[in-house]
Amino acid sequence: MTRAALDPAFHLMPKDQVSRVFDQQDCDIDHEFLGFTSIYLALASIIPVHWTVVDLGCAFAPQALIFKDHARYVGVDMNTKERFSAPNTQHHSMPISAFLAKHLAEFDQNTTFAICSYVPAWSDDNVGLARSSFKNVFTYYPAGTQKPFRPSRPVDGSSGKRG
Ligand SMILES: C[S@@+](CC[C@H](N)C(=O)[O-])C[C@H]1O[C@@H](n2cnc3c(N)ncnc32)[C@H](O)[C@@H]1O
Repeated sequence: MTRAALDPAFHLMPKDQVSRVFDQQDCDIDHEFLGFTSIYLALASIIPVHWTVVDLGCAFAPQALIFKDHARYVGVDMNTKERFSAPNTQHHSMPISAFLAKHLAEFDQNTTFAICSYVPAWSDDNVGLARSSFKNVFTYYPAGTQKPFRPSRPVDGSSGKRG
């Protein structure tokens, strides 16, 4: 029998928070899938640690632990109750549009990095709001048909030519 792989960020989750988050009603993350944590792990390696991270559409916020050494992690979501949290975490339970209307002016644009990852446009253009509100911002929502990744330059002696 093979064991399913743990989510790459699961080792960061405080044990005393896991059941509080996982056991709530409608929780759709677990130890194998905490959300799109590979994106947050990559961003954490490039965002300066003295910056604030604003996570628009944070869901259950396991990424709060990924950014636990940054100046501040601010999670925003309108649908989740119990979320992961670290000492530098602040959570807001409201729509992204309402959060921006109320709190955007509080952030220093030069030392804040906003993330809006895998957040659908159910009623608001959340990606557009994130991009027009912050100077430093990462937005992503998947679209199109997935094709196998082909490197654009040679790797391990292959020609790298696209066939
Ligand atoms: C697929 S999850 C993505 C979670 C996380 N960003 C990630 O990449 O793993 C999308 C989240 O966006 C939230 N969301 C969607 N529209 C929102 C809005 N207008 N305001 C706040 N949260 C919103 C949903 O409640 C949900 O938790």
